[in-house]
Amino acid sequence: MNVLRLERRIIIVSTLFVLTLFGIAAMAVNLFHVGLPSCLTDIKPFLKGEVIMHSPDHFEVHYVSRMWEFDPEEVVVPAGATVDFYLSARDVTHGLILIGTDMNLMAVPGVVNYARVKFDQPHTYKLLCHEFCGTGHERMAATLRVVDRATFDARANAPKPPQQNDPVYHLLEAKDCLTCHSIDGSESIGPTLKGVYGRKVKLKNGNTLTADDVYLRESIVKPEAKIVDGFDDLMPKPELTDQELNALVEYLENLK
Ligand code: CUA
Repeated sequence: MNVLRLERRIIIVSTLFVLTLFGIAAMAVNLFHVGLPSCLTDIKPFLKGEVIMHSPDHFEVHYVSRMWEFDPEEVVVPAGATVDFYLSARDVTHGLILIGTDMNLMAVPGVVNYARVKFDQPHTYKLLCHEFCGTGHERMAATLRVVDRATFDARANAPKPPQQNDPVYHLLEAKDCLTCHSIDGSESIGPTLKGVYGRKVKLKNGNTLTADDVYLRESIVKPEAKIVDGFDDLMPKPELTDQELNALVEYLENLK
């Protein structure tokens, strides 16, 4: 075969160039833990957020994005953990950027996106939605805390708050109440349910009332009737049986 000298040189130089690029990519992945872009997964979209611990050093987090929150809202992993993130969307297109890492994913309804991040040092990371997704877009954030091993173990062994073992808690989850109402006192799209019974409530129309049984019932079955000052008329009517409604009201009365 007759290859010109110039041709041979070009082949050698371009081959070396391509090999160098592969070398740099391999180095970035192995030494600097840079995540390479990956293809879409073929995992079926999931509806609930979840944290799965495969081993003390390997976690899997399922983030569900929806207007306007990420579920789970807070994830805690130990330093040194490798975390596989899976992201799905329940309503419209969202985005997820984990500030301070190179994780930046799109949350597209119908598909699941994936990224892997290794966390070496304790640090509190903020997750933000970076796709404009409606009026609550700027509120759409979550937290990922990387804590040292001892703190993580102490947390993992602590008993769960009692509410989460309560069947009514699962009802609140199932009816999507917790999307907008917290039970820990934090304000969100709707007022917190913590300590709601007996609370002095200022309404949008200027009136004030004390939250009693009748008010709680009405606010559940006819959410638009009395809007709390500072909040919007956004709550959909939940479908509840009488039994479920009674259980909910009783639960709220005891949620101190
Ligand atoms: Cu979700 Cu912006």
